[in-house]
Amino acid sequence: MSSRKTRIAFANQKGGPGKSTFSLQTTFFACEKGVPTLVVDFDAQGNSSTRLAKDQSMDGYLNIIDLFQEELPNKPILQTGCGAYLIPSRPNDPEAHDLEAIPKEAIVYPTLHIEEIMERVGAKLAIFDCPPSLGRKLYAALTASTHVVCPVEVAGFAVDGIRGLVGSFMQVQEHLNPELEIVGFVINKYNGRVKEHQQSLKEIQSQIGNMVFKNKIGMRTALDSANKHGVPVWRVKSSTGRTTAKEFEAVLSEIFRKCKVRA
Ligand SMILES: Nc1ncnc2c1ncn2[C@@H]1O[C@H](COP(=O)(O)OP(=O)(O)O)[C@@H](O)[C@H]1O
Ligand SMILES: [Mg+2]
Repeated sequence: MSSRKTRIAFANQKGGPGKSTFSLQTTFFACEKGVPTLVVDFDAQGNSSTRLAKDQSMDGYLNIIDLFQEELPNKPILQTGCGAYLIPSRPNDPEAHDLEAIPKEAIVYPTLHIEEIMERVGAKLAIFDCPPSLGRKLYAALTASTHVVCPVEVAGFAVDGIRGLVGSFMQVQEHLNPELEIVGFVINKYNGRVKEHQQSLKEIQSQIGNMVFKNKIGMRTALDSANKHGVPVWRVKSSTGRTTAKEFEAVLSEIFRKCKVRA
């Protein structure tokens, strides 16, 4: 059995299914439950970083580029308003895009540094927001993870995309991280009134039903609002806020149970 602390990657090689949304809301959920949490933003867009570090400067703190150095620079670690520690991606930092050109050996550096950082700040859980493409940063995040959870949309070529993803995760298990547990797929932005959504859901369930989360999230404007302001969706005061909060609580509880996060 591994003694590694739980590190959950929210991954999907596509943009838009909800990786950053899940990373943020899971972080808020963990902090409210008193679980000391570290967030690592592996996506150069920096969406999680800007929402968590609202009104805070990221300058001078350890950031994602530092994690890919062989020696971790001696810098402080940013603590955000919700209490979580953050290794940010500064939005549109050209150096973060350049990380895709790093040598292959550097893929394992973040794994080693994250262990040390979690120890330093006393984190029991790490959340990794992943980039929307199969590259060095995604492989590095998956190498450092104990669990991977994939938000997916049912529209379009959902089943084909899921097969591709599982293949990539299996490659990581084989070559980089045999301990990686593929927890499963959470359906996001589901609209039960749309026929294509119903059909895609049926198809997904018939083919990989055992890997699909029991709870799913509908298309909810409250989430957009929560993301925009960088707040927990259960703090959004509207009727859709309450429905979304209930859905999210069910999904987040399922994630915590499956990833064995104890509050
Ligand atoms: N269930 C949902 N209902 C409505 N909007 C959502 C939902 N989930 C995410 N969004 C919105 O969709 C966009 C993409 O989500 P995001 O989490 O940024 O995806 P990713 O990080 O995978 O690219 C964001 O504007 C977000 O606010
Ligand atoms: Mg994102």
